[in-house]
Amino acid sequence: MRKAAVFVTRDIGEKALARLRPVVDLEVWPGDYPPPRSVILEKVPGLFGLLTLLTDPIDAEVINSAGPELKVISQMAVGVDNIDVKAATARGIPVGNTPGVLTETTADMAWALLMAVARRVVEADQQVRQGIWKPWGPDVLTGPDIHGSTIGIIGFGRIGQAVARRARGFNMKILYFDPQRQIDLEESLGVEYAPLNDLLSQSDFISLHTFLNASTRHMISKQQFECMKPSAILINTSRGGVVDPAALTWALQEKKIAGAGLDVYDPEPIQKDNPILGMSNVVITPHIASASIETRRKMALMAVENVLAAVLGKKLPYCVNPEVY
Ligand code: GLV
Repeated sequence: MRKAAVFVTRDIGEKALARLRPVVDLEVWPGDYPPPRSVILEKVPGLFGLLTLLTDPIDAEVINSAGPELKVISQMAVGVDNIDVKAATARGIPVGNTPGVLTETTADMAWALLMAVARRVVEADQQVRQGIWKPWGPDVLTGPDIHGSTIGIIGFGRIGQAVARRARGFNMKILYFDPQRQIDLEESLGVEYAPLNDLLSQSDFISLHTFLNASTRHMISKQQFECMKPSAILINTSRGGVVDPAALTWALQEKKIAGAGLDVYDPEPIQKDNPILGMSNVVITPHIASASIETRRKMALMAVENVLAAVLGKKLPYCVNPEVY
């Protein structure tokens, strides 16, 4: 019998791939860059499975170019906003993701950015490397205190809650906003629910942890920046599209906020001439919040587990559209 054809859009590590090799007819896109869309479109017809990364646009055209044999789209990420899940569901194709394993690692990165921006770590490092070691002075490279301040967490799912747990250790007041109020967690995590505008106006640090969808796209825009304290620092480890990039540039230029720590941007990669790259109060990293060695290994294994379940004719263990079953 012919083995099921599976295309993996990047090398996700031999440990994970070795689990697929004996059971599927495997093709792995080589190198460090995503396959061009034309390649994905060309590969999809005839595939049983597609294992994707968040850099692969899997839109309706890609999904509809699949034959009836496409039985799984398995994404090695928790967010699946690059996939037209609606189109996949309409075709009865389950879409898998990798929730849970990256929660703590992503929260660590949000915290790293928060601390780096507040305490001007990157700016200070750059000065020293440029030969500028200003002598200790009362206001050399000063920034706001983190401990005892107020953090506003937007999106109170797994990652938002993990950020809240870290904030407790810093003795912070913790506000959260989520369309779903989580009263049961308020006491146990020591957090307070706040309507969005109240959170924005009261927080010293604002950290974003929402999925990107039609209702969260550009949810942080000019109007929301207008509500923030001029001393506020925005941290985004969710998706670039949650923040209107033009409004962010405006807010930083007009000093509506004091700084930003960004692991994501819209679009990615950011354009080289983007004015925020010249701002010393912005720390920006290339979408690496889940990039611990162990977490990436777990994510790859989970994505493979989803494919293997489909090969065995079972439900995906981590599925974002279980209604297909
Ligand atoms: C990373 O951004 C993910 O969604 O896993």
